[in-house]
Amino acid sequence: MFDVNNFLHEGSLSPALYWKGYPKYNFIGGHNDNDCIPVTQLKEAIEKVILKEGKTLAKYGLESGPQGYLPLRSFIVSKLKSRALIDCSEKETLIVSGSLQALDLVNQTFLKKGDTVIIEEENYGGTISRLKRLGINMVGVPLEKDGMDIDALKNILIDLKNKRIKPRYIYTIPTIQNPTGTIMSTEKRKILIALSNEYGIPIFEDDCYADLLWEGERPPAIKSYDKNGLVIYCGSFSKSIAPALRVGYLVANWDVLSRILPYKTDAGSGSLEQMVLAEFCENNFNNHVSLLSNELKKKSDVICGALDKYFGSTAEYIKPKGGIFIWVSLPDTIDTSRLYEIALKEGVAINPGSEWSINPNGKNKIRLCFGNPSTLEIDSGIKLLAEICKKEFGLPIQIANL
Ligand SMILES: Cc1ncc(COP(=O)(O)O)c(C=O)c1O
Repeated sequence: MFDVNNFLHEGSLSPALYWKGYPKYNFIGGHNDNDCIPVTQLKEAIEKVILKEGKTLAKYGLESGPQGYLPLRSFIVSKLKSRALIDCSEKETLIVSGSLQALDLVNQTFLKKGDTVIIEEENYGGTISRLKRLGINMVGVPLEKDGMDIDALKNILIDLKNKRIKPRYIYTIPTIQNPTGTIMSTEKRKILIALSNEYGIPIFEDDCYADLLWEGERPPAIKSYDKNGLVIYCGSFSKSIAPALRVGYLVANWDVLSRILPYKTDAGSGSLEQMVLAEFCENNFNNHVSLLSNELKKKSDVICGALDKYFGSTAEYIKPKGGIFIWVSLPDTIDTSRLYEIALKEGVAINPGSEWSINPNGKNKIRLCFGNPSTLEIDSGIKLLAEICKKEFGLPIQIANL
């Protein structure tokens, strides 16, 4: 029998586990609400666009070239103008296979082993794991309720400068941060761009949740203040429409984008998805995201209610103002990596905080995605999680409705 292990290189990754289906109560990943997928309108868009432009599928890149379907790029340009106040053009926009590909492309362009980047201390697991795998030194900025602690960031910048270390970029998820849900204030965004200019360090702004805000005004994107081309911006249709479509976008000045584009060697992202999205978004995007946000707000209220009911004061959190996640702090005595393991065996999947933080503070935190489970599943799943937690760690001391 062929033994693949004899042929793997030293740094190869651990083997994948064969997928055995979703757990009963699935609070992990960035899944969306099944009932909010606009099936009828997508069907209409598919029919319309395939009849109109189906024959262009004969070419890699359709009639639009390597940066992706032009009508979709035009929609993104106008959406970013109206919603994020970003002034950009189709030439400065690249369609990617989900914003994960944007992360990979930017990393391939700018990073080599041993480089340093500055990131928010609590962060998207997909970002942390990528940077770890590349052997990047991550310097974490603590988060406050209104985004990065700017004084801490200033100290980091001074410290790195004194050590003659030039960070390759400052990565931020400023609007509905993953996992904390924080929203960076406009004031801090302006300070951040000023610091980026002062130190000559690019900002990588990952804004994939910004369309799902239901409370308060969306602050202008950091990119909207970018006069010198220092901000690389990425977004996605995964959260606003459907993650399975695998369509995201990267926006940067052409000088920058022209250095990133050569790394996109996949001969283009899926064209049908791009065509359908362009057709759908033109007339439906605004209405769709406002309906979706309303539904997500309801689910957010349900998960907050369930945490209050079943965990009581054992669980602390900041009520989400948008998005699909809630970041929950449990007492120090609860090791959430252990909780994750035992809960999964009983059909409750949660993200342990240690994978979503580059400091040890994540040890007693969990990230819960409320986007996909139904309201009934949210309630029953959180109840079961509280029971499992009580059995293993003695907390919460009392659980309502038991
Ligand atoms: C901050 C952030 N960036 C990027 C992604 C990747 O999303 P996608 O590749 O589906 O666009 C996610 C997904 O959860 C995310 O939370």
